[in-house]
Amino acid sequence: MSVQIRFLAGASLRTESRGLAACFYTGMVNRACHCHLLDALYEFTHSVKYLPSIWVMLCCRQNMTTDISPPQEDGLPCADDVGAWTEDKYNLVGLYDRLFSTGMKNRWDCRVYIDLFAGPGVARVKDTRKLLWGSPLLALQVKDRFDKYIFCERDGSYLDALMVRVTRVSGQSNVSFIRGDCNEEVEQICREIPRASTNYKVLSFCFVDPYDLSVRFSTIKRVSESYVDFLVLLALQMDAARNLATYLNPNNRKLDEFLGRNDWRERWTRLQETMGFPRFLAEEYAAQMQTLGYLAVPFDRMKQVRSDFRNLPLYRLALFSRHELAYQYWNEVLKYGTSQGSFSWS
Ligand SMILES: C[S@@+](CC[C@H](N)C(=O)[O-])C[C@H]1O[C@@H](n2cnc3c(N)ncnc32)[C@H](O)[C@@H]1O
Repeated sequence: MSVQIRFLAGASLRTESRGLAACFYTGMVNRACHCHLLDALYEFTHSVKYLPSIWVMLCCRQNMTTDISPPQEDGLPCADDVGAWTEDKYNLVGLYDRLFSTGMKNRWDCRVYIDLFAGPGVARVKDTRKLLWGSPLLALQVKDRFDKYIFCERDGSYLDALMVRVTRVSGQSNVSFIRGDCNEEVEQICREIPRASTNYKVLSFCFVDPYDLSVRFSTIKRVSESYVDFLVLLALQMDAARNLATYLNPNNRKLDEFLGRNDWRERWTRLQETMGFPRFLAEEYAAQMQTLGYLAVPFDRMKQVRSDFRNLPLYRLALFSRHELAYQYWNEVLKYGTSQGSFSWS
């Protein structure tokens, strides 16, 4: 076994300036050793601009976007029959969780993970026996755990299963469970976010992962009153394009509530010759997020996820943050964290 690590960081450690930092890694190491190496490397690299990319690249080269064992059958309810593409979603989210939780550890006093559509914690891939950790359990198994977790789930049997799994996997973590519709329970969700002060900085990461366009903008707006980054699944094809005729009826309020405004129909009438409805809706959503102080997110920077059957577009994952650093992390995740169109945005 030979391992050689050389950090040629020099002044970049102090200035974080681009191009001055370089890190070279060579060697053949076993998996356990590789884990240690990655941890050590990440402690060093995340403080230096651009170097987290080296860490992400090494993780992914070793197929270690999550270095946790897969779930076992436990007799509890699972999210059944998820598409195989869901694994890509979990790879992306799991890797982002790790980058965020470690990268923000020394910058914020308290890091909070919020899952508005939490699910039961384990999913089964359709037509297989393969089990995958759901998003709450991925977030709980990061190396540098979040200081607080908030899980909201409407289905009572799913929430019960999630509670059992959370206790088994990570009994010591600080977790609040909220039973019900996240739109109805938003005040309770916000009450669970630790209060920030001048001496106590709190940053949250909120995953919004519905089946459809059922998260109200008023919910996002309320949660965004504290420092929160959002990763939102925009069900552009799965819901919006499929049900456009229904939503165009002004008596149907679902998209009005999703966007937090009801004047989108006139704009769509004007623009429909120039773009498809998924793009229109995604851009309307990003514009609404900008009104809350989030940075602009162009359509082509929202990660497209496709079905493995006929490669049809399903939804996009869009990160919304008020700070550039979150996008640096997300860009790294997108380069390496998925088998679907690795190294590409579309
Ligand atoms: C696509 S699944 C996401 C599961 C989870 N995020 C994961 O990746 O493992 C959506 C989940 O949200 C739940 N759900 C649907 N509508 C909800 C609502 N309005 N509030 C809270 N949970 C909801 C469903 O029961 C389902 O478990």
